[in-house]
Amino acid sequence: MRAWLLILVAALVGLLLLLGGCDWASFSKRAANPYPGDLASAARGQALFFELCAPCHGLQGKGDGPLAATLKAPPTDFTDRSYMVTRGDPDFFWGILRGRGGIMPPFQGRLSEAEMWDLVNYVRTLYPASP
Ligand code: HEC
Repeated sequence: MRAWLLILVAALVGLLLLLGGCDWASFSKRAANPYPGDLASAARGQALFFELCAPCHGLQGKGDGPLAATLKAPPTDFTDRSYMVTRGDPDFFWGILRGRGGIMPPFQGRLSEAEMWDLVNYVRTLYPASP
Protein backbone atom coordinates (compact mmCIF):
# COMPACT_ATOMS: atom_id res chain seq x y z
CA MET A 1 0.00 0.00 0.00
CA ARG A 2 2.73 2.47 1.03
CA ALA A 3 4.72 1.56 -2.08
CA TRP A 4 1.81 2.54 -4.32
CA LEU A 5 1.54 5.84 -2.55
CA LEU A 6 5.24 6.48 -3.11
CA ILE A 7 4.93 5.63 -6.81
CA LEU A 8 1.94 7.96 -7.11
CA VAL A 9 3.83 10.82 -5.44
CA ALA A 10 6.89 10.19 -7.61
CA ALA A 11 4.72 10.21 -10.73
CA LEU A 12 3.09 13.47 -9.68
CA VAL A 13 6.46 15.10 -8.99
CA GLY A 14 7.70 13.86 -12.36
CA LEU A 15 4.64 15.30 -14.08
CA LEU A 16 5.16 18.66 -12.39
CA LEU A 17 8.81 18.72 -13.45
CA LEU A 18 7.78 17.84 -16.99
CA LEU A 19 5.20 20.61 -17.07
CA GLY A 20 7.82 22.96 -15.65
CA GLY A 21 10.11 22.22 -18.57
CA CYS A 22 12.43 19.91 -16.58
CA ASP A 23 15.10 22.54 -16.71
CA TRP A 24 16.55 24.02 -13.56
CA ALA A 25 17.84 27.04 -15.46
CA SER A 26 14.46 27.89 -16.94
CA PHE A 27 12.98 27.43 -13.48
CA SER A 28 15.50 29.94 -12.14
CA LYS A 29 14.64 32.41 -14.88
CA ARG A 30 11.11 32.59 -13.56
CA ALA A 31 12.20 32.63 -9.92
CA ALA A 32 11.67 35.88 -8.09
CA ASN A 33 14.34 37.85 -6.28
CA PRO A 34 14.37 36.35 -2.75
CA TYR A 35 15.44 39.66 -1.13
CA PRO A 36 14.63 42.63 -3.37
CA GLY A 37 15.96 46.00 -2.21
CA ASP A 38 17.83 44.40 0.71
CA LEU A 39 20.84 46.66 1.39
CA ALA A 40 22.81 43.99 3.28
CA SER A 41 22.47 41.78 0.22
CA ALA A 42 23.53 44.67 -2.05
CA ALA A 43 26.61 45.27 0.13
CA ARG A 44 27.65 41.63 -0.25
CA GLY A 45 27.11 42.04 -3.97
CA GLN A 46 29.31 45.14 -4.09
CA ALA A 47 32.38 43.24 -2.90
CA LEU A 48 31.82 40.59 -5.57
CA PHE A 49 31.18 43.27 -8.17
CA PHE A 50 34.50 45.04 -7.56
CA GLU A 51 36.33 41.76 -7.89
CA LEU A 52 34.53 40.04 -10.78
CA CYS A 53 32.54 42.60 -12.75
CA ALA A 54 34.35 45.95 -12.52
CA PRO A 55 37.04 44.96 -15.07
CA CYS A 56 34.31 45.24 -17.73
CA HIS A 57 31.43 47.16 -16.14
CA GLY A 58 33.67 49.68 -14.34
CA LEU A 59 34.02 50.43 -10.62
CA GLN A 60 30.93 52.65 -10.77
CA GLY A 61 29.06 50.29 -13.09
CA LYS A 62 29.06 52.74 -15.98
CA GLY A 63 30.19 50.10 -18.48
CA ASP A 64 33.64 51.67 -18.76
CA GLY A 65 35.99 49.19 -17.06
CA PRO A 66 39.54 48.72 -18.32
CA LEU A 67 38.52 45.74 -20.49
CA ALA A 68 35.45 47.45 -22.00
CA ALA A 69 37.28 48.87 -25.03
CA THR A 70 38.54 45.38 -25.99
CA LEU A 71 35.03 43.84 -26.16
CA LYS A 72 32.78 43.32 -29.21
CA ALA A 73 29.84 45.01 -27.45
CA PRO A 74 29.80 47.56 -24.64
CA PRO A 75 29.07 46.28 -21.13
CA THR A 76 25.72 47.38 -19.75
CA ASP A 77 25.78 50.80 -18.06
CA PHE A 78 24.03 50.13 -14.75
CA THR A 79 23.73 53.87 -14.02
CA ASP A 80 21.44 54.35 -17.04
CA ARG A 81 18.07 54.48 -15.31
CA SER A 82 16.04 54.64 -18.53
CA TYR A 83 17.49 51.26 -19.57
CA MET A 84 17.61 49.64 -16.15
CA VAL A 85 13.89 50.11 -15.45
CA THR A 86 13.06 48.15 -18.61
CA ARG A 87 14.75 45.03 -17.20
CA GLY A 88 13.45 42.79 -14.43
CA ASP A 89 15.51 41.20 -11.67
CA PRO A 90 15.15 37.72 -13.24
CA ASP A 91 16.60 39.16 -16.49
CA PHE A 92 19.71 40.28 -14.63
CA PHE A 93 19.92 37.04 -12.68
CA TRP A 94 19.68 35.08 -15.92
CA GLY A 95 22.39 37.22 -17.54
CA ILE A 96 24.78 36.59 -14.66
CA LEU A 97 23.95 32.87 -14.58
CA ARG A 98 24.33 32.21 -18.29
CA GLY A 99 26.53 35.06 -19.51
CA ARG A 100 25.66 37.55 -22.24
CA GLY A 101 26.26 37.68 -25.95
CA GLY A 102 29.25 35.34 -25.86
CA ILE A 103 31.18 38.21 -24.27
CA MET A 104 30.29 38.16 -20.62
CA PRO A 105 31.20 34.78 -19.12
CA PRO A 106 28.54 32.67 -17.35
CA PHE A 107 28.90 32.65 -13.57
CA GLN A 108 26.90 29.45 -13.08
CA GLY A 109 29.08 27.16 -10.96
CA ARG A 110 31.38 30.01 -9.91
CA LEU A 111 28.85 31.87 -7.77
CA SER A 112 26.01 30.58 -5.62
CA GLU A 113 22.46 31.52 -6.47
CA ALA A 114 22.41 33.79 -3.38
CA GLU A 115 25.56 35.58 -4.55
CA MET A 116 23.99 36.19 -7.96
CA TRP A 117 20.93 37.76 -6.31
CA ASP A 118 23.30 39.89 -4.17
CA LEU A 119 24.80 41.18 -7.43
CA VAL A 120 21.35 41.88 -8.87
CA ASN A 121 20.48 43.87 -5.74
CA TYR A 122 23.78 45.76 -5.98
CA VAL A 123 23.37 46.84 -9.61
CA ARG A 124 19.87 48.07 -8.69
CA THR A 125 21.51 50.62 -6.33
CA LEU A 126 23.63 52.15 -9.12
CA TYR A 127 20.96 54.31 -10.76
CA PRO A 128 18.72 57.00 -9.22
CA ALA A 129 15.48 55.75 -7.67
CA SER A 130 13.46 58.42 -9.51
CA PRO A 131 14.11 60.19 -12.85
C1 HEC B 1 34.32 40.17 -19.88
C2 HEC B 1 33.56 41.34 -19.53
C3 HEC B 1 32.42 41.22 -18.54
C4 HEC B 1 32.47 40.76 -17.25
C5 HEC B 1 33.69 40.22 -16.49
C6 HEC B 1 31.15 40.89 -16.71
N1 HEC B 1 30.30 41.39 -17.65
FE1 HEC B 1 28.30 41.75 -17.45
N2 HEC B 1 28.16 42.24 -19.40
C7 HEC B 1 29.23 42.40 -20.26
C8 HEC B 1 28.73 42.81 -21.55
C9 HEC B 1 29.57 43.10 -22.78
C10 HEC B 1 27.32 42.90 -21.44
C11 HEC B 1 26.32 43.29 -22.52
C12 HEC B 1 26.15 42.12 -23.47
C13 HEC B 1 25.06 42.35 -24.45
O1 HEC B 1 25.13 43.32 -25.21
O2 HEC B 1 24.12 41.55 -24.43
C14 HEC B 1 27.01 42.53 -20.08
C15 HEC B 1 25.73 42.45 -19.57
C16 HEC B 1 25.42 42.25 -18.24
C17 HEC B 1 24.10 42.18 -17.70
C18 HEC B 1 22.83 42.18 -18.51
C19 HEC B 1 22.01 43.41 -18.37
C20 HEC B 1 20.73 43.18 -19.11
O3 HEC B 1 20.48 43.90 -20.02
O4 HEC B 1 19.98 42.26 -18.76
C21 HEC B 1 24.23 42.01 -16.36
C22 HEC B 1 23.12 41.94 -15.32
C23 HEC B 1 25.63 41.94 -16.06
N3 HEC B 1 26.33 42.07 -17.23
C24 HEC B 1 26.14 41.77 -14.81
C25 HEC B 1 27.45 41.40 -14.57
C26 HEC B 1 27.95 41.00 -13.29
C27 HEC B 1 27.14 41.02 -12.00
C28 HEC B 1 29.25 40.64 -13.47
C29 HEC B 1 30.21 40.08 -12.43
C30 HEC B 1 29.78 38.91 -11.70
C31 HEC B 1 29.57 40.83 -14.87
N4 HEC B 1 28.46 41.31 -15.50
C32 HEC B 1 30.80 40.56 -15.43
C33 HEC B 1 30.55 42.16 -19.96
C34 HEC B 1 31.04 41.62 -18.79
